[in-house]
Parts: sequence; C-alpha cells; structure tokens
Amino acid sequence: MNVVSNTLDTQAREIMRGNDRGTYTVPTDGLYPYQWNWDSAFAALGFATFDLDRAWVELETLFTGQWSNGMVPHIIFHEASDGYFPGPDVWGTTHTPPTSGISQPPVAASFTRAVFEKNPESGRAHLAALFPKLLASHRWFFEHRNEDGMIVVNHPWESGRDNAPEWDEAMENIDISRVGDYKRNDLGHVDPHMRPQKTDYDRFMAIVYAGRDCEWDEAEMTANGPFRVADPGMTFILLRANRDLLALADVLGEDGGEIRGWITAIEAGVEKLWNPAIGAYDALNVRTGEFAGSVSSASFLCWYAGIDDHRMLTAFDRVIKATTFSMPSHDPESARFEPFRYWRGPVWGIINTLLAMGLKDMGHAAQAEKLREDTAALISKSGFAEYFNPQDGSPAGGMDFTWTAAIWLAWASPTIKTEGS
Ligand code: GLC
Repeated sequence: MNVVSNTLDTQAREIMRGNDRGTYTVPTDGLYPYQWNWDSAFAALGFATFDLDRAWVELETLFTGQWSNGMVPHIIFHEASDGYFPGPDVWGTTHTPPTSGISQPPVAASFTRAVFEKNPESGRAHLAALFPKLLASHRWFFEHRNEDGMIVVNHPWESGRDNAPEWDEAMENIDISRVGDYKRNDLGHVDPHMRPQKTDYDRFMAIVYAGRDCEWDEAEMTANGPFRVADPGMTFILLRANRDLLALADVLGEDGGEIRGWITAIEAGVEKLWNPAIGAYDALNVRTGEFAGSVSSASFLCWYAGIDDHRMLTAFDRVIKATTFSMPSHDPESARFEPFRYWRGPVWGIINTLLAMGLKDMGHAAQAEKLREDTAALISKSGFAEYFNPQDGSPAGGMDFTWTAAIWLAWASPTIKTEGS
C-alpha cells in the first residue's frame, strides 16, 4: 500500500461524507442535488467499505421512492431545490416523496448482495425487508420493459447513458413542436462541450411531457410513447441482477421460481441483441426493428450478465487499443465518437467496475485488471471526476463525484488488492 493511494482513499471517503445528506447521497453537490437511483446503489457499495450501516440506509432510502407498481424511479426529490431541471413539478408524478417517472439500470439487487455478503449476520434483517421490494422492482421491469426478453428503455435517461449514440436514430423522429422554452441548469455547472446538445435535450423533454400527459400510464407509453429501444446495458444489468436476486432468495429460503423464469427469458432476449453487422451486442429500436449500429461500453456487459461470449473479446481487444484509457463509452473508431461529450466517448468508472466484475467472474483476469489499472490511473491523475477523456485522461463533467469515489473504495484502489479484501 503506498502513500498516494492512502491519501486517495481518505479523499474518497471525504467526498462520500461531503455528499451525504443523512439518509441518501447526492451524486455531486450543485449539478445533481437529489437522490439518483443507480448512483445510490454504487454509493452503498462504497459505504460498505467503511460504514456498513450507512450502506444499508442508502439502499433503504432509495426504496422509499418505489411506486406501488414496483418501479424504482431514477430520481427521488427528497428536498426542494431550485438548482435542477427538470424538477418535480415538470415530471408531475404523484408519489411522496416526489420522483421522476422513469427508472434506471437496476444494479440495486446485485449491490444489495455485495453489501449483505460483507456481514451476513448483521445484514439478514435488512435483506429480509428489502427482498420483496427488489422482487417487485424486477417484476415491474418484466411487466413494462420486456420485449421478448430484451429489456427496453422508454427514455434515454432510463438507460443511465443519456446521450449515447445508440439513441440517435430513435430520437430523430421525436416530435419536439410542443416542447417550447426551458432553462437547463446543467450548463451553469459544466462546460457545454461536455454535456448533451440542445437537440438531444429537446427530445428528452418531449418524452417527459408525453409521460406526464398520460399520467405515466405504462400501457400507454408502451403502446404509443415516443421512444422504446432495447438496451444491451439494461438487458445485461437486469440479467445479472436476477441472478443475484436468486442467490438472495436462496439465502432467505424464498421461492425463486419466478426469478428463474425471468433469467431464462432474458437469456433468450440477449441473443436477439447480437448485431452481426458490427460483431457486437447492440441497441435495437423495437418500433422499427432496426439496430443502432453502435459498439458501446454497454455492449461489453455480457460477462457481467454471466455470458462468456468470445466474439466480444475480439471487439474488446480492438477497442481498448484505440485509446490510451479504457473503456471508452463509444467505439473510438466510429464517426460519432466524441472524447469529451458525456456518453459519446468518455470513460466512466462505474461502467469499468461492472465490466471488470464480469470479466473477472468469467475468467478474464487480465482484461479486468487492465480496466482497474486504467481507472486507478485516471483517478490518480485527474481526481474523482464524473467521467474522463479516454485519450488524454483529463477530467470531465462534475468533480467530487460520489460514484467515482465509491468505486475507488470498492474496487479501483490499489489498497484493496494489497489487503486482499
Ligand atoms: C447523468 C448520468 C446518469 C446519472 C446521473 C446522476 O444523468 O447520465 O447515469 O445517474 O447523471 O449522476
């Protein structure tokens, strides 16, 4: 263990404490002043390295936002703040506390398992209380985001990868004539060339207004919503989450039959996301039946889902050679690659974490270690940024980011290796 990583460990804990609002953490102060769904699950993973009780509280607070239909929303607006757009009044949902009307990648079951396994004895009561909520959230995905075993998103924000090139074609045809004027607050915090463009934002808002107009009626959004695209990221993440939920069901002596059914269905769905034209898993617009033609960091989450696809190792080798730091969020050899713009090229530490977990589980230790080393190098060089330029490693987006600090503590820090935990 060296002094530098010790200092970074301390800094990471300070960032997490600084972003802690008592029972939940904000992704970063200012830019994102509420609780975000998958950010919080990553926060729990980070807290579990130094404050296990606080890790459980993070997950439990997330589920205070759960809707009666099982959905865990992507944002929970616990306390009023005028610093974010679109805020609760724009979403117009009826839940208390107020929430957005869409979900986010369901990493919660997998990280609940990781938190539980840190101390099964003290975690058992927490797990027993959370389990039915996790099960209901997976059932919601299966009822409302399942197309033939492929998991779809109704809004690019739902994927967690807001402006990824995967969504471009499906976004093009969205009617923005009723969107009108609005003021983005993100551009007051971050350089515009690192954020989604106005053309994306107009469409993001058009989908939010469509949801609000039908009072977030799932059947209506499924049939007529402006956007419905099968996402390899969501599909792989939910598959993994179901495997972890099944393990938790076994621990609790619960019947896992329903979960096994979901696993079988999604395993079949995954095959339909294989796009031979690009030799990778791809997003598929279920309205048109067309692939996006995009190799993204989500294409490589197959191992995380327990699918050891050697064809993806070929793509992996090509992509990691194309930039100094891996894993770029979009194929660097594509014309749509932009090294600084959010989900169109930059490296995201959280995605590297998921990729490496999967690679390691499936016996690809060298590839997993390459991602850990790159992530550690980026954080050592540029701090706990929201994301990083894959070419020169410079920081991008917000700073002092909760999930970057969390994955440092839970996975990237060299001290973890030394201590063998
Ligand atoms: C952005 C990211 C999303 C994340 C949120 C809060 O919208 O695209 O994945 O959850 O910020 O950090």
